[in-house]
Amino acid sequence: MKYSKLFYFLAAASEAIAQAQLLNSGYKAQQPAIDVVDVKKQNGVVCLPDFFPLQDYDPMRPASVPTYSLPKYDEDKFTGPNEKLDSDVLALLNSLTLEEKAGQLVQVQVGLFIGCDGLINTTAAEIMIDKWKIGSVLEATQNHNGRWNINSPQRFANFTNTIQSIAISKGSKIPLIWGLDTIRGANYIKGATIFPAPVNMAATFDPTHAYNMGRIGAKDTRAAGVHWAFSPLADINRQKLWSRNFENFGEDPYLAGEMVYHNVKGLQGDYKNDRSKVAACIKHFIAYSSPNNGMDRDQAQIPWNILLEYLVPPFKRAIDAGVATVMEDYGQLNHQSTMSSKKILNDLLRDQLGFNGTLVTDWGELNSQWTWYKTAFDVDDAVNLALNNGSVDMSMTADDIMYANSTINLVKAGLVDIKRVDQSVGRILQLKKDLGLFTSPYSDPSLIDTVGSNQDVVLSRNAARESLILLKNEKSVLPLATTDKVLFVGAAFDSINDITGAWSQHWQGTNEFEKDDIYDIYGETIRAGVMNITGSEPNYIIGYNITGNRSVGYDDVVKAARMADKVVFLLGEKPSTEGIGNIKTLRMAKDQYNLVRSVSQQTETPIVLLLAQNRPFSLEELVTDASAIMNIGLPGPYSGIPIAEVLYGKASPSGRQPYSYPKLDYQAPVTYYTPQWNEYDPEFAFGQGMGYNNITYSNVTVSSTDLSPGKPIKVSVTATNNGIWEQNEPVLMFTTQLIRRSYVSEHYRLRAFDKQVIAPGTSKTFTFTLTAEEMSFIDLDMNRVLAEGPVNITMNAFNENAKIASIYLHEK
Ligand code: BGC
Repeated sequence: MKYSKLFYFLAAASEAIAQAQLLNSGYKAQQPAIDVVDVKKQNGVVCLPDFFPLQDYDPMRPASVPTYSLPKYDEDKFTGPNEKLDSDVLALLNSLTLEEKAGQLVQVQVGLFIGCDGLINTTAAEIMIDKWKIGSVLEATQNHNGRWNINSPQRFANFTNTIQSIAISKGSKIPLIWGLDTIRGANYIKGATIFPAPVNMAATFDPTHAYNMGRIGAKDTRAAGVHWAFSPLADINRQKLWSRNFENFGEDPYLAGEMVYHNVKGLQGDYKNDRSKVAACIKHFIAYSSPNNGMDRDQAQIPWNILLEYLVPPFKRAIDAGVATVMEDYGQLNHQSTMSSKKILNDLLRDQLGFNGTLVTDWGELNSQWTWYKTAFDVDDAVNLALNNGSVDMSMTADDIMYANSTINLVKAGLVDIKRVDQSVGRILQLKKDLGLFTSPYSDPSLIDTVGSNQDVVLSRNAARESLILLKNEKSVLPLATTDKVLFVGAAFDSINDITGAWSQHWQGTNEFEKDDIYDIYGETIRAGVMNITGSEPNYIIGYNITGNRSVGYDDVVKAARMADKVVFLLGEKPSTEGIGNIKTLRMAKDQYNLVRSVSQQTETPIVLLLAQNRPFSLEELVTDASAIMNIGLPGPYSGIPIAEVLYGKASPSGRQPYSYPKLDYQAPVTYYTPQWNEYDPEFAFGQGMGYNNITYSNVTVSSTDLSPGKPIKVSVTATNNGIWEQNEPVLMFTTQLIRRSYVSEHYRLRAFDKQVIAPGTSKTFTFTLTAEEMSFIDLDMNRVLAEGPVNITMNAFNENAKIASIYLHEK
C-alpha cells in the first residue's frame, strides 16, 4: 500500500469512528422519568372541539427551591461558532444521504405533533422524523391547540423528551434541536420567571439586567428540554407606530448593542460546555423595525450608509459576543426579499460581519416568497433562490416539509450544488454538537426545581423597579403618602396581563377567557402591590377597559376623584404584537383620553399618569393636565410590588427614556440622532428621566481637549445627591460634533453610560473613555471616516442638570 493510500484509508477509518461516536453517544442516554399528572381521559381519547379557548390548567408546578447555584464558566472569551467544522461533525455530515441532509434544514412547529385530544401524537412525530427526517421543532403547545394553557416544566420536558426519544431512534437518528421564543425569561413555561419587556431593560441603562434575563431564561428553557431561544431582538425603535417596539432595547444603536451583548452572554455564555445555557438567536436581520408606514412587515427603504451606521451595530455587537444563530427578517428592505438576498445575507451578514453560525428564517418565510412577496414563481423557485443567492441554513417553514422536498428535487436536477446544502447541514450539526445534543439529548431534570426560584424573582423585581421612568413631577406630587386618599383608575391597575404584554404565556398575552388566572401564583397586580405597601384595599374604579373604552360613566370617576387627594390613571393598550398589534395612529382611545381630561377640567385633584404600553401613545393636553407622569412600559408580572414601592417612596425611580417619545404621529419616525439642524422636539427626549432627589452635576473634566485616533481621552463628572433617598443614578455621555464638513452630524450621539448608587448627601464620580474612532461615521461610499471639528461632550443631555465640556476632534 502506498503511503498516500494508507493515509486516506486511515483518515476514512477515523472519520467513520468519529461519526459513529457522535451518533452513538446519544443512544446511551436514557429518557429521564419525570412524573406528570395526566389529563383524565373519557373512553380513551376525547377529541377537543375546534375552538378550545379554555384549555386545561396544568395542575403541576415546579418546586421552585428558594436558592440554587449553577456552575460558572468563562463567558468573557469568544465562545461563538467557528468557520471550520469539527472532524466528527464533518464525518457525520459526509455519512448522510441527500434526504437526511434535506431534513436537517427543516424546522416544523409543535402543533403538527398534537393529536385531536390536545396531547402528544407520537404517530405524527414518527412520520415527520422517520420519513422526512426533520432536524428541528419550535414552539410551545399552548399556542397550537395543546390541551394545557401553559405547560409546567415537567410536562414540557416530558413532551420534548418523548419527541427526542423518537428522533434518536428513527430516521437519521440525529437529535432534534428545539427552539422557543424565550424573549423575557422563559415566558412560555409555567412558573418560569418572566422579566420586564426588553424596552424596560433598556430603560434601566444597566446591562446587568439584560444579562440576568438571559441567564435565568436559558436555565428555565433548558429545564423544559428546549435548546434554542429566539432572542434577543437586535432591532432598534425607529418607528414608534410599529407593534413590536416593546421587544427592542430602545432606539439607540449603542444602548441596544450593550443590552444585546449582555443578553446574549446571559442566554448563551459558554454554550459549548455549559448545559444550562441555550443558543441565542439575534433577530430580525435586518431593518424589520423600520417599516416606512409603521405596519408590521411593511417595506423599509433605508439608504445603505444609514443601515450600516444605525441598524447594523447591535447585530455586530452580538456577533462579536459569539451569538450562535441569527434569524432573518420578514420585511422587505430596499425591495429585497431577505431570504433570497445575496447582498443582505451573504455580503453583509456573512462576509462583512463575519457570522459563521446558523441562520434560520422567520416563520413561514418560504411560502411567503411566492404567496405574498411574489419574489418566486413557486416553492422550488423559492428554495432555489434561497440556497443559491442567500445563506439561510434552516427554514422555519413551520407548517410543512416543502423546503426539504424542494431541496431534494433541486439537487437531483442539478440546480443546487450539494456543497451548498452541506454548508448549511454542517452548520446545523455543529450547533447541535456545541449544545451537547449528541451526548445529552434529553432535558436535565435537576434544573426543573430551580424554575421560579425566589432568587430569580428578586432579579425580575429589581429590573422592573429600575426601569420606571419619572418624566414629570410638579410640586412633588409623587411619592404618594400612605395617608393620602388615592383613587386609582384604569384596567391595568388590576391586571398582570396588561402590565406584561405579549410574549408571555401566549404569543398575544393571555386570552379573554383565562385572564390572569393563567399566572397562577407567579406574579402580582399593581393593586396587590399597593395593598402590600399601604396595608389596605386601594380605592379603585376601572373607568375604561384595556382597549380604552368606557366601563363606567365619566361622572362616577369625576365624583370619586373630587373626594380623593390624588388620582392615579393607568393608561395603556391591549397586549399585542406583530400584525395583530398594527395601529394607524398614536392617538389614545377616546374614552381613556377624555376621562383624564374630564377629571382635570372638573376637579382640583392632582393627576398622576402611569403609562403601561407597547409603544408611546400621544399625550397631547394630558401632559399639562397631569402633575406627574411615569412611563412604566411593560414591566412584567413581578412589577406590582416594585411599582408600589416607587409610587410610595420606598425607592426613588431611576429609569431613563430609551427612545424619543413622540408628541403626535408625525414624530413616529423621529430619533434623537436626527441631523443637527432638524427639529428635535419630542414630548420626552431620549435619556430623559429623573428620581425624587435633586441631583447636581459638577467638575466635568477631560484629560485632554484634543482627541485624535489612537489617543483616547478620559471624561469625568461628579454627581451629588442632595436628596433624602438613595439614588441609583444613570449618567449618559453624549457627543455632538458641532462642525463636520460636508456630512451633517447628528444632534447627539450616545457614547457611554454608567449607573451607580449614590447615598443621600454624598457624591460619586463617573469616568468614561472617549475615542476618536467612535466619532467616525459611514460616508456615502460606505467607508468609515473621521472628519475634524469641534465637539461638545454633554453629560445627561435633555435633562435639567446637563453639563458640557468642549474638545476638538482631529483626523490624525
Ligand atoms: C416572529 C419571530 C418569532 C417566530 C417564532 C415570528 O412570527 O416574527 O420573532 O421568533 O415567529 O415564534
